[in-house]
Amino acid sequence: MQYILDTADVDFIRKAVDLYPIAGVTTNPTIVAKEKKNFKEIIRGIREAIGEDLMIHVQCLSLKAEDIVKEALYIKELAKGNVFVKIPVIPEGIKAIKLLKERNIKITATAIFTPQQALIAAMAGADYVAPYVDRLDNISADGVKVVAEIVELLKINNLETKVLAASFKNVEQVHKVCLTGVQSVTVNKDLFEKLIYHPLTEWSVNTFISDWENQYGKNKTTLDC
Ligand code: G3P
Repeated sequence: MQYILDTADVDFIRKAVDLYPIAGVTTNPTIVAKEKKNFKEIIRGIREAIGEDLMIHVQCLSLKAEDIVKEALYIKELAKGNVFVKIPVIPEGIKAIKLLKERNIKITATAIFTPQQALIAAMAGADYVAPYVDRLDNISADGVKVVAEIVELLKINNLETKVLAASFKNVEQVHKVCLTGVQSVTVNKDLFEKLIYHPLTEWSVNTFISDWENQYGKNKTTLDC
């Protein structure tokens, strides 16, 4: 299982990579624009924060295959290290995936809303396919079911493509998607902190401290080691 951060907030990324078992970062044009900073600076900042080995997924903006290929090569050069180029599953995007596979560029096919889009992208050579769970739920579709069918289709076809489930608005969506057997989820910064938080954990930790202090005295919050 891979937990990925769906944000371009470099300060948050640095902090989260220090605390949690994070496999990488995903961005898209909306996420980058939200930071109101220069694109190159943001991508270089993320790489500096996560190091060479963690993944960064950076999205193309062009709509024609030849232009997508150019952008992909630019992203690979800019982001260095372990980089995946995100390409939306429009027809020209699928063509670009085929062209880029010939050049050994790692690809994440994105903006996926149906299992067939995922299967076609995987057969074109995508390393990851990224279905959008909350955006599906918001049109009264079943995001988790779509993800489960993608997992099943990739298995049936013996494809090595991994599922990177995206677009979550609550912990339950993430949890149900994890149960489908996906290889990775990408979660925004607010939601990521909710995955680990539980009021009873906080209460339990506070109780441990106060019981200890009652017996051994105030300011004795370590084991004297
Ligand atoms: O990684 C794709 C994701 O950023 C889309 O999420 O929350 O905008 O639906 P959202």
